[in-house]
Amino acid sequence: MTHKGIVVIDFGSQYTQLIARRIREMKVYSEIISPSVADKFNYSTVSGIILSGGPNSVYDKESPTISNRIFSLDIPILGICYGMQLIAIKNSGVVSHSQEREYGRSNLTILSRDVIFKAVKNKSIVWMSHSDKVKEIPKGYVKIAMSENSETAAMKHSQKQIYGFQFHPEVHHTQFGYTMLHNFVIFICRAKQDWTSKNFIERTVEEIKEQANGKIVISGISGGVDSTVASVLVKRAVGKHLKGFLIDTGLLRYNEGRETVECLKRTINMDVEYVDSAKLFLRRLKNVEDPEEKRRIIGKTFIEVFADKAKSFKNAEFLVQGTIYPDRIESQSQKGPSHVIKTHHNVGGLPKNMKFKLIEPLKELFKDEVRRIGIDLEIPSELILRHPFPGPGLGIRILGAVTEESVIMLQKADKIYLDVLKERHEYGNIWQAFAVLLPVKTVGVMGDQRTYDNVIALRAVTSVDGMTADWYGFSKETLQEISKRIINEVKGVNRVVYDISTKPPSTIEWE
Ligand code: XMP
Repeated sequence: MTHKGIVVIDFGSQYTQLIARRIREMKVYSEIISPSVADKFNYSTVSGIILSGGPNSVYDKESPTISNRIFSLDIPILGICYGMQLIAIKNSGVVSHSQEREYGRSNLTILSRDVIFKAVKNKSIVWMSHSDKVKEIPKGYVKIAMSENSETAAMKHSQKQIYGFQFHPEVHHTQFGYTMLHNFVIFICRAKQDWTSKNFIERTVEEIKEQANGKIVISGISGGVDSTVASVLVKRAVGKHLKGFLIDTGLLRYNEGRETVECLKRTINMDVEYVDSAKLFLRRLKNVEDPEEKRRIIGKTFIEVFADKAKSFKNAEFLVQGTIYPDRIESQSQKGPSHVIKTHHNVGGLPKNMKFKLIEPLKELFKDEVRRIGIDLEIPSELILRHPFPGPGLGIRILGAVTEESVIMLQKADKIYLDVLKERHEYGNIWQAFAVLLPVKTVGVMGDQRTYDNVIALRAVTSVDGMTADWYGFSKETLQEISKRIINEVKGVNRVVYDISTKPPSTIEWE
């Protein structure tokens, strides 16, 4: 660690990255390390240590652990859930398997005021996720809070600055969670608050330079925020050694492929080769109606084109990927027992026979952090603030079989829709807005003539992470303008409808 900050020792919790993210929100540097390196780690510039939660039981033979070294360093420590149980058993306390599991919300009562509870009410809601609990606190420790099912919901060493929380302060649902973490990091650890996205950029550029070591790096840019920001970071590090290309599947938004290439050239002087593969994708999708089959074909074709293009760079050793932290959670859960609702091809990875080493500079960040870095990298806001776009693109927004005509029709309608939202300054309030072409025809009347034409459905949702979503409440005037313009300007459309379904039970995309 080259910076005064907080070390998070990761015992496998799904929330470890959230802890690091909260610390970054305080402008404090944080680094996540594995328990296997914790014993040998150089703590000389470390202001505080957080022991994360984890899925194991501290008594299991296979459970990750650490030696007692950190307790003698005189650095403040906060153990969360498994982390607190580890502090307990490492100092001769007792942890027991509890019959009363505690999942979700719980009421915390503070038993003893302490700096860590500064500005926290005596009673508040916390979020729990555990079945084991500390039965006997170690000698020299005191209980400082309890909950309904945990006699020791928080403990502290009476002389040293060592704390344990059974609950998770890092999650959004813990009422004063951020305040407690802030109290620990700022008032107890006295960590320096000088970590900014500019520092992140500098440090990451240095790391990439070292990793790439003068070798050729290739990058497939999609036009989305993540791949663009990742590539621009790599460009800063390796300059001309970065070879970027954009594969146009023909299923992108109206003219988006070419525009992205031109925009990167114009604004940050980045050369990205445009690879037009629209015909191939359309040919493969001919007469295919099933959404999952379409996804599979698009995903497979994309990988083929990508591999082919990559081969043309003879000396390339590295590949940039714009993976961000939530992608890793989603792709992990796809391997687990959870039900596959839709297969997201772009998190599935590339074929094993592609022997590139990966450069993934954003893999620990969340979307809003990536956007902030993009702004600091001076990437144009039209790229940074773009709504998320699914890998299979318009292929899953044209319900049923995809044809050249249907792509053109949808691209035009979608462009009008998004243009109106931008003109009316509503685009930025919406998580995702797009048009869908329905596989039905309806009767209309235009200039006394009967028409029998297509229906466009408009979708606009608000969301934080795409996992849950609500439909956006447009004014009548906005909907009127969008509908009028689409019906007047897009040949083949005589009806526009607005989707008022939440997720769940509906999904954001229609396929
Ligand atoms: P759903 O429709 O599952 O969408 O509610 C949630 C978010 O995921 C995007 N999405 C996809 N992204 N490949 C992707 O890369 C896909 O196959 C895919 N399907 C949905 C969707 O646009 C929304 O942001």
